[in-house]
Amino acid sequence: MRTVNRVVIPAAGWGTRFLPATKAVPKEMLPLVDQPIIHYGVEEASASGIGQVIIVTSQGKEAMEDYFLPDPELEAFLKARGKASLLATIRDLSSNIQVTYIIQEEQLGLGHAILIAEKAVGPEPFAVLLPDDVIQSQRPVLAQMIDLFQEHGASILAVERVSRERVSGYGIIDAEEISPGFYRVRGLVEKPRPQDAPSDLGIVGRYILTPRIFDALRHTEPGALGEIQVTDGIARLLESEPVYAYQFQGVRHDAGTPLGLIKASISIALSRDDLAPGLRTYLSNLPEVRGPR
Ligand code: G1P
Repeated sequence: MRTVNRVVIPAAGWGTRFLPATKAVPKEMLPLVDQPIIHYGVEEASASGIGQVIIVTSQGKEAMEDYFLPDPELEAFLKARGKASLLATIRDLSSNIQVTYIIQEEQLGLGHAILIAEKAVGPEPFAVLLPDDVIQSQRPVLAQMIDLFQEHGASILAVERVSRERVSGYGIIDAEEISPGFYRVRGLVEKPRPQDAPSDLGIVGRYILTPRIFDALRHTEPGALGEIQVTDGIARLLESEPVYAYQFQGVRHDAGTPLGLIKASISIALSRDDLAPGLRTYLSNLPEVRGPR
């Protein structure tokens, strides 16, 4: 049975929504509780049985590369101090998964970022994970999607319902529901105006794609925002093979905006025994702060 052993994580953007912090720290390295945002995506891939991570990055984001390297000095220090659980966390990070990097010289869009990973991916089905979309779930969303891929042998997009006024922030699908929460895609449009959206099913940053997507992307012209959009590439792929969409089990956060990151931080902290009691007390007695910001 064909399985999915590689994930492409596009992480080359400027992170303008988090300026000025992102002047010095890549957006993907901003902390979500006590892990950088990208760590959640890599963890999800690893927990889904994926062994190889291909990060598409850009110059100046070396902190991300350092993060996934072994750090023998830090390990020795934690060992000497008897900090076994921290030591295990640090070791897990570099041992279970192989991480490689590709530099995207120009920011030509998400479709372009995926296209330049073609050589690293090879002629196999693969996953794409957008690290801003952090998903809390019982079973990792990529694992849920890989199960479906094994059943159907075709590309699968994660989707969730979005309100009409927010559709222009998403790729929106036109689809026929073939079983509860599972759809055959008929068409897709990137960032439509509310009146043009074919449905309220928005694509969330998890994809399982067949390698034919590369050919489709090679022939995809710049679309919304003047960028080569993966959504347009998938619309092209649809001309030659079926594509499915799946309403995943889990709660998704958009950690790509300051408010979204705050909400994700609260939600993740509330799921942790070491942080939930203190946070609950704080939230129920929120002090009113007056000041310039
Ligand atoms: C990207 C995709 C879009 C998708 C979204 C999910 O958009 O282009 O189709 O719905 O991620 O987060 P972006 O958020 O990069 O504008």
